[in-house]
Amino acid sequence: MRVYLDHAATTPLRPEAKQVYLDHLELVGNPSAVHGFGQGARRLVEDAREKLAQAVGAHRSEIIFTSGGTEGDNLAIKGLYWARRDQDSARTVIISAATEHHAVIDSVEWLEKAQGAEIVWLPVDRNGVFDLNWLRDYLVENHHRVALITLMWANNESGVVNDIPAFASLAAEFEIPMHSDAVAAFGHIPIDFAPSNLSALTFTAHKVGGPVGIGALVVRRGTKITAVNHGGGHEFGYRSGTLDAVGAAAFAKAAEISIATLDAKAQRLSVLRDRIVATVAQLAPEAELSRGDAPGLPDNAHFVFPGCSGDSLLFLLDRAGISVSNGSACQAGVAQGSHVLIGMGYSNIDAASAVRITLGYSTTEAEIDALLEALPAAYSGAKKAGLTV
Ligand SMILES: Cc1ncc(COP(=O)(O)O)c(C=O)c1O
Repeated sequence: MRVYLDHAATTPLRPEAKQVYLDHLELVGNPSAVHGFGQGARRLVEDAREKLAQAVGAHRSEIIFTSGGTEGDNLAIKGLYWARRDQDSARTVIISAATEHHAVIDSVEWLEKAQGAEIVWLPVDRNGVFDLNWLRDYLVENHHRVALITLMWANNESGVVNDIPAFASLAAEFEIPMHSDAVAAFGHIPIDFAPSNLSALTFTAHKVGGPVGIGALVVRRGTKITAVNHGGGHEFGYRSGTLDAVGAAAFAKAAEISIATLDAKAQRLSVLRDRIVATVAQLAPEAELSRGDAPGLPDNAHFVFPGCSGDSLLFLLDRAGISVSNGSACQAGVAQGSHVLIGMGYSNIDAASAVRITLGYSTTEAEIDALLEALPAAYSGAKKAGLTV
């Protein structure tokens, strides 16, 4: 049996979403065309927009379709930054965190290098929790220089969940737009955009059982963002490009089911996740759950195994038929510590000792049995191999 436990990277297409996709695959008509075919495609898009708005707690006019999370983050960050700087050239500071996804980190770093932005990294503690008090103190002194704040709702590696509405209400007190990358959170924990005080929020289809290649950015009504993609003026002028009507419909179906089944799934998967955590605590008492006792996603278990290479453990588990992830990149054969763990204060060597096990809607108890059976041999093999970074 091959066991897939890397749902945070991408989760399998839900059968219902696949059916919607297949039902419309031969759809003819560009949703921007005024004739009957175009109108049919447009109806599909608008129906998907309405369903996604409901799923995320937004208004339909606040949903902008994108190609996925990376594009949503880029559009939100660059678009908010440019719009704010155009209104007030003194606003060049972007506040973000070192544990963000690269779609965020690389966007803010590009704005720093190419556009004169100044990045202020919010302190993150050992469990991956953002420092709200620090942000309050910083804003009291410096709010007039801040263009935007971008902080993720849940971390895709550690699974830690931050209290994003608390950060967003602080940002709102100072009239600073705040964006949140909710790619890892949406469909896993409750997200309600309307009362959140956020100005923008990113989510994507393939993390909830929709197709790869479509996502959405939620932009609150009245928030100004500058377009990144120019062309036909689609998506209220924010994101030009012919819309993927079929992908949008399948995305909406996957999102709808994810939200309808969220509580039951969280309950079922957190029991399985807790089994993994308890087994690892016995097998490797020196191992740490990276988020410690901070709130976390119900379907994520991310461990640091000191002295043991995350790559070796991943490889040995994969040989035993169990696919997990380590979150760190291997460049030119040299293990690199995960930037998320380094951002949480781990050393480079410990940051290269991580393994992330993520469960999804299709995960079964038998799959977790198989993981827990394979783990002891894989762990002792990986430990013997040692660790050099
Ligand atoms: C937190 C987070 N943000 C952004 C992305 C990028 O999303 P996409 O793959 O849809 O471009 C990912 C994907 O892994 C993610 O986990």
